[in-house]
Amino acid sequence: SATLKWGLPRLRAAKRVIVARAGAGSYKVAILGAAGGIGEPLSLLIKMSPLVSALRLYDIANVNGVAADISHCNTPVEVAGFTGKEELAGSLAGADVVVIPAGVPRKPGMTLDDLFSVNAGIVKELVEAVADHAPGALIHIISNPVNSTVPVAAEVLKRKGAYDPRKLFGVTTLDVVRANAFVAATKGLPLADVDVPVVGGHAGTTILPLLSKARPKAAFTDAEVEELTARIQNAGTEVVEAKAGAGSETLSMAYAAARFLEASLRGLDGDADVYECAYVQSQVVPELPFFASRVKLGREGVEEVVGSELRGLSEYEARALEALKPQLKASIDKGIAYVQQQE
Ligand code: NAD
Ligand code: LMR
Repeated sequence: SATLKWGLPRLRAAKRVIVARAGAGSYKVAILGAAGGIGEPLSLLIKMSPLVSALRLYDIANVNGVAADISHCNTPVEVAGFTGKEELAGSLAGADVVVIPAGVPRKPGMTLDDLFSVNAGIVKELVEAVADHAPGALIHIISNPVNSTVPVAAEVLKRKGAYDPRKLFGVTTLDVVRANAFVAATKGLPLADVDVPVVGGHAGTTILPLLSKARPKAAFTDAEVEELTARIQNAGTEVVEAKAGAGSETLSMAYAAARFLEASLRGLDGDADVYECAYVQSQVVPELPFFASRVKLGREGVEEVVGSELRGLSEYEARALEALKPQLKASIDKGIAYVQQQE
């Protein structure tokens, strides 16, 4: 099937036979920050996607080599490189999905919030261009701190009169990928079967894996819940420290971004039952205008914010949810204020 060709696991929620799809290979995808640690392997994975017709790679530097290299893979996706700000508009024209991994990554000792001062400006500038040149595209924000850069993007789009909350996503798929991998290893479950919803945000304790809602149903001791939760929350730091100054998660992030892109394209294509967790505008927690939870993806982006995982939480999860609210709220407010304070 199309999905298996990509080597990515099918979503549990989307168990059905893939038959001939009318829209196969018809989507145009732009990656902004395509020559970076995430951008390069992500571009390669997208070059292998049977759902994509054109891949536009934009970066402020070094992107033409990446485009030339990837273009030699004999898959049908057309690849073009765009470099320098004057070529940004060209990379966006007609894009169905714009993926944004542009920005600086952490070094050991840094928090994600330490990246805000640089990355908020990059996201603002790029999303302004998306509003001008690819209005209506789905926007996948990877640049950190996602808890704040997504509100930055929303405010920019509002100012441009181009905000459709169904089309703006903070990519938190890596948290789900990690949760699935760690739970499968701890409980000895087959990897392909494990599905753990992860809600909240994408930084430290704002990342809340809901182990009580994991499928297949598994019994966790209190110690396992604490250890797994902490490992999922600190997995980024685990890699940042292992890379010792050479950056953060790039390969597993590219894998996660490709999985989320595939789900989004299947939604655009009209597939039923496409679900992923993502950080989107939502009302599932009334005091948090942005919150990661399971969403149904459809022809216009978010078709439904599910949110029902938040019912019947374990005591541990309910406490963790209360505890993360102030931090996530502050990160959201910081992003909104950043744009509102500008001319
Ligand atoms: P990197 O430094 O390797 O690559 C970033 C790329 O962005 C570079 O090629 C750079 O030239 C480019 N860039 C910078 N400013 C730009 C601009 N104005 N326009 C276009 N491109 C620009 O970093 P990376 O490891 O690829 O990480 C990128 C971002 O992704 C970081 O902020 C990192 O924290 C974040 N990240 C997010 C997740 C997640 O789960 N959401 C996971 C891992 C990393
Ligand atoms: C991650 O979760 O790995 C990323 O957000 C990058 C980081 O620095 O934690």
